[in-house]
Amino acid sequence: MTAAAPEPKATMGQPVPRYDATAKVTGRATYGSDMPLDNPAYAFLVTSAIARGRINSFDLGDAKRVRGVIDIVTHENAPKLKESKLFSNGGYAGTTIQPLKSADIAHDGEIIAVVVAESYEAAREAANRVKVSYSAATPSASFDSPGTTKAAAKGQNAQFREDPQVGDFAKAFEEAEVKLTASYDTPTQHHNPMELFSTSCAWMGDDLVIYEPSQYVYGLKNGVAEQLSIDADKVRVVNPYVGGGFGSRGSMTPRTAIIAGIAKGLNRPVKLVPTRDQGFTIATYRAETRHEIKLGASRDGKLVALRHEGAEVSSRADAYCVGGTKTTTRLYACPNVDSLVSIVRADRNTPGFMRSPPEVPYLFALESAMDELAVKLNMDPVELRRVNDTTNEPIGGKPYTSRSLMACFDAAAKAFGWSQRSAAPRSMSDGDWLVGYGCASTCYPTQMGPSAARVRLQRDGRTRVEIAGHEIGTGAYTIIAQTAADRLGVPLEKVSVFIGDSDLPPAPVAGGSNSTASACSAVMMVCDQVRQKLFKAVMPNESLTDKAKETVGIGQTPTTQAAKSDRPLDLEKAFDALGASVVEEYGEWKPDGAPLDSFKAMHSGHVRLVGGAALKDKIAYAFGAEFVEVRINRLTHEIRAPRLVGAFAAGRIMNPRTARSQLMGGLIWGMSSALLEATEIDERTARYVNDNFADYLVPVNADVPGVEVILLSEQDDHINPAGAKGLGELANVGTNAAICNAIYHATGQRIRKLPVRLENIEA
Ligand code: MOS
Repeated sequence: MTAAAPEPKATMGQPVPRYDATAKVTGRATYGSDMPLDNPAYAFLVTSAIARGRINSFDLGDAKRVRGVIDIVTHENAPKLKESKLFSNGGYAGTTIQPLKSADIAHDGEIIAVVVAESYEAAREAANRVKVSYSAATPSASFDSPGTTKAAAKGQNAQFREDPQVGDFAKAFEEAEVKLTASYDTPTQHHNPMELFSTSCAWMGDDLVIYEPSQYVYGLKNGVAEQLSIDADKVRVVNPYVGGGFGSRGSMTPRTAIIAGIAKGLNRPVKLVPTRDQGFTIATYRAETRHEIKLGASRDGKLVALRHEGAEVSSRADAYCVGGTKTTTRLYACPNVDSLVSIVRADRNTPGFMRSPPEVPYLFALESAMDELAVKLNMDPVELRRVNDTTNEPIGGKPYTSRSLMACFDAAAKAFGWSQRSAAPRSMSDGDWLVGYGCASTCYPTQMGPSAARVRLQRDGRTRVEIAGHEIGTGAYTIIAQTAADRLGVPLEKVSVFIGDSDLPPAPVAGGSNSTASACSAVMMVCDQVRQKLFKAVMPNESLTDKAKETVGIGQTPTTQAAKSDRPLDLEKAFDALGASVVEEYGEWKPDGAPLDSFKAMHSGHVRLVGGAALKDKIAYAFGAEFVEVRINRLTHEIRAPRLVGAFAAGRIMNPRTARSQLMGGLIWGMSSALLEATEIDERTARYVNDNFADYLVPVNADVPGVEVILLSEQDDHINPAGAKGLGELANVGTNAAICNAIYHATGQRIRKLPVRLENIEA
């Protein structure tokens, strides 16, 4: 075992190497724009240079004279498309702003023309020669801009159902012995996955194939079919590999149906590879947020009152919000809680999911405030969390299915050396460097969605697993293969996994960290169907009791407790008895509490995730604790984060290697969200300024010299058959607060606005 492949503890699978490792490092993994097309035309986007107004006219003369140009599509000649509803209102779209529909412009960088040419270079050249005459209106850029409107999220966003409240906050806060009121800000951020927002569309008669990085092939297939007014069965989305998602590919963007429509008109495949800067405006992003936290506590640190008010920016057209109060109002024991989430509409593209959408900004506020409260109480911040730890969430009183928050704090504190910290701010230094230690809680809801799978087992043990899941870099192939191998008792090398294709059995969106729980639960169930079929063949006269169903095994004895066999079957004999060489089973799994229309919705590309605080009798979250060391140069104010240490508990860890990788990436991204990442918006023009990798800062190796991930053993039998809590979005939560808490410890300066840059340090 190595650091990258941690020794599995109880309730963990083996740290086997990635299923797709060789394909990826040898360049054989084919991404959307790598797919070979027959005589493709190349599309290049022209995007709007104003954020609000109208197009008066185009001058396309110069552009059309570029050799190889086939067509230039604008709102005057674009294919007619049906509008799609926002996903949070039951549709598929990440935005309802449909480009090329009219001369109106709703945001910076909206698609206003598509040049199609014989080569990428010709399309790009012509796009640069498109001249546009605009009538510009003054746009509202963000929170403080004139012309924005603000209203409660509840009532305008169907997925935001409640502003959680319990007890009498006002009275309890008034009477509290210790009080804190503080405001926090988080910036606009863009996901920037490595793979660009490409789309290739190829028609074969009435059948459309789309090659596009997507986190939800069933959603995209059904959404594009709706926009084109064709049968969803005519559309196939293929993406065996996705070069990063982070939420930006969870819902449909307008580009796909536009390219499909153009390809249909040309009767020729069309390939679009937008530029990096176009990705900032043709897809979604994390909008800026503002928070006010009020905490009241007794002298011994027990919370008596908590209020979290959040505001988020969205577009004029869509009431998107992340609404993280569902988490922050339930994280700690507190009898009197109040909250409110508002949406501020500005002239912006519609924001969307970005890794841990609610928790990253909302826990920044809460976990910063908890640290400030600890200072007021003269209490160790770890002890403040311990005093307010709870087995039941305070809003509805529901028990957590399992909660290892303090075990995580204890493990991470020990590994970090928290006991070496001297509590007073500015009390630790090393030469010219002020040293600060900080910590914060992290948590992420455990979510599951209805999922189907097909499993084929051959006489020689070769196994094929089919499920329309997604490999967005998380290790999906690997853990699906491990699950099938384990459940069927066949060697891992004999398992082939097919995902990333909407012709396969449906799986949910690869979002909300649900994929492992959903896909593995479905695969386990279908593997059991295969086993039962063979069991019946061998022992036709034995009635298949529930107990027997659980304990039937094949070949070698499976290693997991759940699949443990006391009556292993001989595979050859079982197939002989069956009189066949192949067993193939299809099945549909849904989590407890999933709505009645789950399976129908699953096929039509609608998400029906359950979990988190929305479970009926329980509440399910994964937890962690993060500790950071920061160093701030007294002279230059340079900020470094030499050590990030996190301990995490997320139910069954399917593969400690891929889990560690996810959590390590999360810690790095969490640090990055505190110190580096921010999309700057020009207040006058409502345009993104740093829409490129030179100016939008992301961490490099030198920024993260030390990252340590500790995986805790946790068994949770209440969540799903796989016993897994999602952890893809667990580790980048709370890190931003831990960094600011450490900066306070190093300098005595409390920073409540992200990102923190050296010019913000007054030390
Ligand atoms: Mo994640 S933001 O739910 O893809």
